[in-house]
Amino acid sequence: MSRLLALTSLFVVAASCGTASSTPALTFHHDVEPIVQKSCGNCHATGGIAPFPLETYEQVKAQASAIADAVSSKRMPPWMPSDSCGQPFVGDIHLEQADIDTLVAWTKSPLEGNPADAPTTKATLATLPHVDTTVKMSAAYTPDATLTDDYRCFVIDPALATTRFVTGYNIIPGVNAEVHHVILYVVDRAQALAEDAKDTAPGWQCFGGTGINTKGALGVWAPGAGAVAFPSGTGVAFGPDSVIAMQVHYNTRAGVRVPDQTQAQLMFADRAVTNAYLVPIVGDGFSIPPNSTGYSYTFDQPNQLGFDLDVWGFLPHMHTRGRHITMTTDSTCLVDIPKWDFHWQRVYFRPKPTTLKAGGKLSLNCTWDNPEARTITWGEGTSDEMCFAFVYTTVH
Ligand code: HEC
Repeated sequence: MSRLLALTSLFVVAASCGTASSTPALTFHHDVEPIVQKSCGNCHATGGIAPFPLETYEQVKAQASAIADAVSSKRMPPWMPSDSCGQPFVGDIHLEQADIDTLVAWTKSPLEGNPADAPTTKATLATLPHVDTTVKMSAAYTPDATLTDDYRCFVIDPALATTRFVTGYNIIPGVNAEVHHVILYVVDRAQALAEDAKDTAPGWQCFGGTGINTKGALGVWAPGAGAVAFPSGTGVAFGPDSVIAMQVHYNTRAGVRVPDQTQAQLMFADRAVTNAYLVPIVGDGFSIPPNSTGYSYTFDQPNQLGFDLDVWGFLPHMHTRGRHITMTTDSTCLVDIPKWDFHWQRVYFRPKPTTLKAGGKLSLNCTWDNPEARTITWGEGTSDEMCFAFVYTTVH
């Protein structure tokens, strides 16, 4: 008996030695912590927007099976574009397959390893090369107690005396745990101030747009995205008659509902730049039948300007019934989002522009599911839909 035991343990030792020498066991500090810190940490931080922090070995180990599921199904980190269209994108946060494999393999036997192996430099978010003005919401706002998702537009007024070119922006959330995403619209000053003055609370309720005369959108900010700098040498003209309507999506699922006063940082051109235009692509001719799944609509926007345009970036937009959105030019697939999630919309810039020829067209294809017993059409409300995009363009 004892000889048998001895033999067995010999085999065990031999086997584990063999494994150890060919592929060292994955450990938290050596293999997992660098990935989690870089790709999860900006949201899964103490007091962050995600429901739990992923900062320590114990916290990550406690979520091991949920993490394996979330990363292998590509729900996390939240990055919507498919790999097969439009790549590469600037600021892409998706995980490489090798990192997914590492995370999943580790969760099966979640060893801690040696704390001395932990990454020494902490991953940080992109910041702006220079910040020219920082504008706060005029007063703090507490998300509506009756809503889990409260969408509100606030006036952000850079108070410009002359027209300047915006070349980048960043958002500093007042309360990380409730600011889920932010869209910066360019709107008419007088109208925005009038809308804001309608009640005593700061801002006004808004959802699919601003509800007032919108000239364009500077872009979207989401936690974990960091600052957005527009393509080098380009900028968006912003005049004294405009202000920003900053739409904040407050999500109070994490259980935090406290006053928030979010700030926007803006960067202006310090030398001559090419004027970029945020062209709206408005596919409003759809009518989604009641109780339908996979209803699809294509909108073609011809370039009737008589000259070629360079398309640098785009902000595709649907509401919560949207399932799939694709943007293409005649020759190029710009972005394909097979699992649309209203909560994770973004502006996607590509490192090089795509030329949209004079007479060419840009197409938006939108697909929705409509589980309701009513037809759904275009509108700005939560129960309406959109097949829409802002496109960041310059003259070619
Ligand atoms: C941009 C912010 C952000 C990043 C980056 C992020 N998460 Fe999340 N995560 C969230 C939010 C917010 C939720 C809550 C559910 C939701 O809103 O979709 C969540 C939920 C989860 C959940 C539980 C729900 C589910 O879908 O399984 C897991 C597990 C998770 N995240 C793991 C991760 C991991 C692992 C990473 C990094 C590889 C990561 N997350 C990166 C914001 C983020």
